Amino acid sequence: MIREFHHISLRDRNSFGVEQQAARLAEFETADDLRAIFAGGAPAEWCVLSGGNNILFTRDYDGLLLTPAARGIAVTKDEGDRVYVRAEAGVEWDDLVEWAVERGLWGIENLSLIPGKAGAAPVQNIGAYGCEAKDVIERVEMFCVETGTMLTLDAAHCGFGYRESVFKHTLRGRVVITAVELRLSRTPQPRLDYGDVAREVEARGGVSLRNIREAISAIRRAKLPDPKVAGNAGSFFKNPVVGASEAARLLAAWPDMPHYPAPDGGVKLAAGWLIDRAGWKGRSEGRVGVHERQALVLVNRGGATGAEVIAFARRIQRSVAERFGVEISTEVNIL
Ligand code: EPU
Repeated sequence: MIREFHHISLRDRNSFGVEQQAARLAEFETADDLRAIFAGGAPAEWCVLSGGNNILFTRDYDGLLLTPAARGIAVTKDEGDRVYVRAEAGVEWDDLVEWAVERGLWGIENLSLIPGKAGAAPVQNIGAYGCEAKDVIERVEMFCVETGTMLTLDAAHCGFGYRESVFKHTLRGRVVITAVELRLSRTPQPRLDYGDVAREVEARGGVSLRNIREAISAIRRAKLPDPKVAGNAGSFFKNPVVGASEAARLLAAWPDMPHYPAPDGGVKLAAGWLIDRAGWKGRSEGRVGVHERQALVLVNRGGATGAEVIAFARRIQRSVAERFGVEISTEVNIL
């Protein structure tokens, strides 16, 4: 069923809480809904607005926004150890994690409490605490706007990388994700080697799916602001990846700089650390600020516009570039 809105406020549909409008917004459930929506050809401007947790509107949107509303979760294949689970695009990601934890299924517990919907998980290959969506995604189902047909893409063809996928590039503006299929496991596969995770799990009585979920949730709650209290979109910037010689230059000057090996011999740096060391943590300018406990997160202190947020972000990027010679790019989708 399609629910359609015109000249709708987006304030409650973006976690930054910016006050912009969309000319048209349609909530859809099925492939037939999408066929009906695109029947007369694609509108000049359209995009998917899922949970609105990784998007910054800097202006009113003149086109059509599509929001997935179907919320089914089902086991598609049970092989004993491996269990394949299909979630429709409108399922809240954290509801899916809870569903899996309740049933003793391992694989996404480290991704507890990530805001957003299941259909958005493959787009930026959500990740946290040593786990990424790509580790468990088996395939992604989508509606192809050009042909009006449904397509299924195996994970190997999704171009997954750190906060990257084909859905941000070649398939951008061409498909609408309708469901994801995950490959979960009944065999315990705890991943506790990131930051405080092992300690927090131990403090809750040791390794179990439930304890890991609670430990991760507690760590996130302690570090990341609740969008209901202060508008934000999680990490505003990506962690930059630099070459080995550039990393050596930086580490000679700042020996305590956090750094992690990245694919292809690169070195991943912590944007939060760079922003923090450039003096921005907790700082506000007008109605926008850098979160007090996590410098990667920009917050709306109340009534900020998207344009104000992006202007502030650009100042931070310039400041980090001047201080460290490192470019940090935005993780949030800017519209
Ligand atoms: N750091 C600072 N100051 C800060 C923030 C971080 O010095 O204000 C240092 C930390 O001490 C640590 C390093 O930077 O040594 C990395 O920080 P942290 O472990 O908090 O993780 P992150 O790299 O800042 C990433 C993801 C988060 C995810 C966490 C945990 C990105 C852009 N962000 O943050 O994802 O929850 O790891 O895995 O990759 C998101 O994408 O919205 C998000 C919240």
